[in-house]
Amino acid sequence: MNGSDSHDEDGIRADRVADTFRQIFGESPDGVWAAPGRVNLIGEHTDYNDGFALPIALPQTTLIAARRRADGRLRLHSAQGDGRITDLAVAELSPGTVTGWSRYPAGVVWALAQAGHAVGGADLHVDSTVPTGAGLSSSAALECAAALAFDEMYGLRLDGPELARLAQRAENDFAGVPCGIMDQMASICCTTGAALHLDARTPDRPRQVPLDLPRHGLRLLLVDTRVTHDLGDGAYAALRAGCERAARLLGLPALRDLPAAHLPRALRVLPAELVPLVRHVVTENDRVAEAVTRLRQGDVAALGPILTAGHASLRDDYRVSCPEADLAVTAARGAGALGARMTGGGFGGCVVVLTEAAREDQVNREVPAAFAAAGFRPPRMLAVAPAAGARRLSPPPRRGALAER
Ligand code: GLA
Repeated sequence: MNGSDSHDEDGIRADRVADTFRQIFGESPDGVWAAPGRVNLIGEHTDYNDGFALPIALPQTTLIAARRRADGRLRLHSAQGDGRITDLAVAELSPGTVTGWSRYPAGVVWALAQAGHAVGGADLHVDSTVPTGAGLSSSAALECAAALAFDEMYGLRLDGPELARLAQRAENDFAGVPCGIMDQMASICCTTGAALHLDARTPDRPRQVPLDLPRHGLRLLLVDTRVTHDLGDGAYAALRAGCERAARLLGLPALRDLPAAHLPRALRVLPAELVPLVRHVVTENDRVAEAVTRLRQGDVAALGPILTAGHASLRDDYRVSCPEADLAVTAARGAGALGARMTGGGFGGCVVVLTEAAREDQVNREVPAAFAAAGFRPPRMLAVAPAAGARRLSPPPRRGALAER
C-alpha cells in the first residue's frame, strides 16, 4: 500500500467515523484521531526488564471521533460494542469502577488527571480494525488514540513518550494489566517504513530503524493462531515478578543490567526456576541488538534466523508459546520462510513470519494446511508492513505524525 492510498483510506474512514459520531451525539466532532496496533519483531518480555524491543506499527488502527464537553461527563460509544453509551463523570473515575473496553479510554482520562493535567469531559465514538485478543495491542491502540484526542482537545501538547507513559499508566493502574511500555510506545512513536528501536529504560529518545521490505524482495506475514490470550489472567504478572526477583537476587536494578558475558555465572547462583527466565531476557536483548545491527547494514534477510532463535527461547525458556504458535513457526519455515516467531505476550495470539516474496504464496498455503492436519481452527493470514504511529486524521494536521513532534 503506498502513502497516498493509505491517506485516502484514512480520510474515508475518518469521514465515516465522524458521520456516525453525528448520528449518535447530534453534533460534529472536534476531530478524528487514529492509533495503530503493533507487531513486535524481536525483544519479547524485555520491556518490563528495562530492556530492548523492535516493534512496528500495523496498518490496522483504532479511530476515535471526539468532542469536548464542558460538563465533566465522559460519554463513550463503540462501533464494536453493544450499541449502548457508557456515561461517566470524569471527577469520579477511579480504578476498578469501569469495566469492558470503556476502561481503556476512561483510564487515559484518569491518568491524565492524576498527572495534574487539566482535562474534562468529552463524547467519544470508537471504531477499530485492530483484531482483539490476537496479541496485536488493540487495547494500546485504544488508549493511545484517546490520549492523543485528549491531548489535542485540551491543548496539553505532551510529547509522544509522555503520552505513551500515561497510556501505560491507564492500563497498569486503571485497567489492572501489569504490561510494560512497548505497546504504547509502538502505537504512538512508530513511523511508516521503519521499526522502532525501543530502549524501555529511556523511552524518551525513540530511534527509528529503516525497514524497507519490498526493496529487499521480502514480506512480513502474520499468522493469527486465533488462540485468544489474556494478559490479565496472572501468568504475565507471575513472569514479571520472577524477573524482578531474579534482578533483586543478582543485586541489579533490572535484568537489562546483566551483560551476556556474565550470564553463565549469574545462572549458577539463581534458584532453578528463575534460570530459564533470566536466560531468555538476556539472550533476547542481545537478539534485538543483533537485529538492529543487521538492519542498519541493510541485511534484512538476516532477521530470519534471529526471529526463529527468539521463538525457541520463548517456547523452551520463557514457556509462553502454545502448540498452534509452535506449529505456525514450523510450517512457515517448512514452506521456505526465512524465520518466524510468536509475537506479543504469548499464550496464543500471532506468529510473525519473514519470507522472500517468492515464497509468500507457499507460506499462505502450507500454514493453514498444517493447522487443518493437526485439527486446529483455521488460522488467519495477514500481510503487514511498517505503518504510521498515532495521528490526527481530521481536521488534517499541519505537521505529520506525532512522532515528529
Ligand atoms: C504484552 C505487553 C508488553 C510486553 C509484551 C511482551 O504485549 O503489553 O508490554 O511486555 O507483552 O513482550
